[in-house]
Amino acid sequence: MKKHQIVLLPGDGIGPEITAVAKSLLTKVSQKHQFELEFNEQPIGGSAIELTGTPLPESTLSACKKSQAVLLAAIGSPKYDDYPREKRPETGLLALRSGLDLFANVRPIKIWSSLIEASSLRKEVVTGVDLIVVRELTGGIYFGKPKGRIKTEKDERAFNTMSYSAYEIDRIAEVAFDLAKARTGKVCSVDKANVLEVSQLWRERIDILADKNRQLEINHLYVDNAAMQLIKDPRQFDVILTGNLFGDILSDEAAMITGSIGMLPSASIGKKGPGLYEPVHGSAPDIAGLDKANPIAMVLSAAMMLRIGLKEEKAADDLENAVNDVLDAGLRTADLMSSSFTEVGCIEMGNELLKCI
Ligand code: IPM
Ligand code: MG
Repeated sequence: MKKHQIVLLPGDGIGPEITAVAKSLLTKVSQKHQFELEFNEQPIGGSAIELTGTPLPESTLSACKKSQAVLLAAIGSPKYDDYPREKRPETGLLALRSGLDLFANVRPIKIWSSLIEASSLRKEVVTGVDLIVVRELTGGIYFGKPKGRIKTEKDERAFNTMSYSAYEIDRIAEVAFDLAKARTGKVCSVDKANVLEVSQLWRERIDILADKNRQLEINHLYVDNAAMQLIKDPRQFDVILTGNLFGDILSDEAAMITGSIGMLPSASIGKKGPGLYEPVHGSAPDIAGLDKANPIAMVLSAAMMLRIGLKEEKAADDLENAVNDVLDAGLRTADLMSSSFTEVGCIEMGNELLKCI
């Protein structure tokens, strides 16, 4: 029997609850489709700080490197807000992305027809939205140097650097272009080339690559305009290609088009080695441990892991269909709830999903 080694990173907040749901579903689809999943659970984020004093222990990173895929739930807690940067949960996640060289973050934004009423935008605007944000993940202002803080007697200054090399731009563009080729062929590259040098280079490289990919329809938008267009007419987009910071912001905005960020999975991939699959949402410390979390983004991330990382397409289809079925049956976690639906907690949602496999 085929065997895949998976590292599970439950992390913080609602992380352990949604991980438990994903794990039992993964086990069930693996039995059905006759492959074996070997789970190795490792600490990251706040839970790793508690255990080891660091947000990404060496043992976690090396287990991830040896695995075939990594499934992460969420990290972060207000408890660490005042900790120095190197001791914060977010630093662990960034170090993991960079340590596995996961430069491409793929965030599909799709409207589930049964959730159309949950969007804060009008039904006519969101019906049929199906786009992908391709966000550069290991460069840009998140990682640029110099960075730091300088304190003088009179004042204090803090700074970060947004920098991209042509190589970094080209390799993320290639990911976006490949995805677009399998879809409608439309790519919108988002930058701030009217103000930033780094964006000027970004735009020049995209134009050079566009010349070599004439079958694609490639346009540019400034990030402020892109933010506006996403709300005004999200259907105009197919693949959105952008840098690390702009992608962070636009993917949260795009998430809200679907009604809840609790629905959105993501995949972070590199040129080789294991990918990292994680929900777009955070650790939701306010509802942690209350059995209120929506496990669907985690389940859909597990489906992306099966499809992209493990090539177990049929098992991935099963998970996605199960999500569709529970939504069609009117089951909703609190984040998606409105009258006429049945509210369920995280555990019950998990059990209902299991019944649909
Ligand atoms: C995300 C998150 C992270 C990011 C944080 C938790 C470091 O917001 O994955 O979008 O900024 O990349
Ligand atoms: Mg974010």
